[in-house]
Amino acid sequence: MIKLKQIEKFYENKAGKYYVLRGINLDVAQGEFLSIMGPSGSGKSTLLHILGMLDDPNSGEYHFLNEKVHSMKEKQRGELHKQYIGFVFQSYHLIDELTVYENIETPLLYRKISSSERKSMVADTLDRFNMVAKKDLFPNQLSGGQQQLVGVARAIIGNPKVILADEPTGNLNSKQGEEIMALFDKLNKEGTTIIQVTHNERFARYAHRVVHLLDGWVDKEESPPSS
Ligand SMILES: Nc1ncnc2c1ncn2[C@@H]1O[C@H](COP(=O)(O)OP(=O)(O)O)[C@@H](O)[C@H]1O
Ligand SMILES: [Mg+2]
Repeated sequence: MIKLKQIEKFYENKAGKYYVLRGINLDVAQGEFLSIMGPSGSGKSTLLHILGMLDDPNSGEYHFLNEKVHSMKEKQRGELHKQYIGFVFQSYHLIDELTVYENIETPLLYRKISSSERKSMVADTLDRFNMVAKKDLFPNQLSGGQQQLVGVARAIIGNPKVILADEPTGNLNSKQGEEIMALFDKLNKEGTTIIQVTHNERFARYAHRVVHLLDGWVDKEESPPSS
């Protein structure tokens, strides 16, 4: 479903090129659950943004459902993102001017879904995340953990084919973290492809495969024991 070939990403400054990703080759099958781990600064978020079509590599190929993402214009990539991908941002990226309800509803506005159906989908999602009482609050009225939950709710509401989640449990307590992992596990068993960045060894094990990044390179890959 996803194939990266020799992906490279660098930034340039006066001192020269500064590489963030080097020679990344990655295949992810439909229905797979993958964890990406690695120290801070190793390129995890950059890789996830490239997979999410939110950022462009400097070179290499990206094939998504047999489409050549690397040859697409930004607008076309954006369309593909909206159609297939639910993205959980490390720093939430909620829209400050919208309420919790409206933030969660946004992905549905890109699709042909009637307003009554949207209402019931948002109501179900608010319920699932125990956020019914918070639906009219704005992001700055929420704790970091609550904002993170809204970010996850927004990513999953449209039943995306692929969920890309950047440290989705980083600001949650362990019970909330377990609940998000149980939700990902359930969605994955129903067919959703999931790629998550995590620092949590236990949560990483929900995946079928763990890819470790180091200084922008794939350092090693492992299959966690099916404990
Ligand atoms: N827009 C940018 N301009 C310059 N350097 C950047 C930019 N974005 C990320 N980087 C650098 O790329 C490296 C990898 O960042 P990132 O992908 O966020 O790592 P991780 O998510 O593993 O912590 C870091 O050293 C970071 O400072
Ligand atoms: Mg990061």
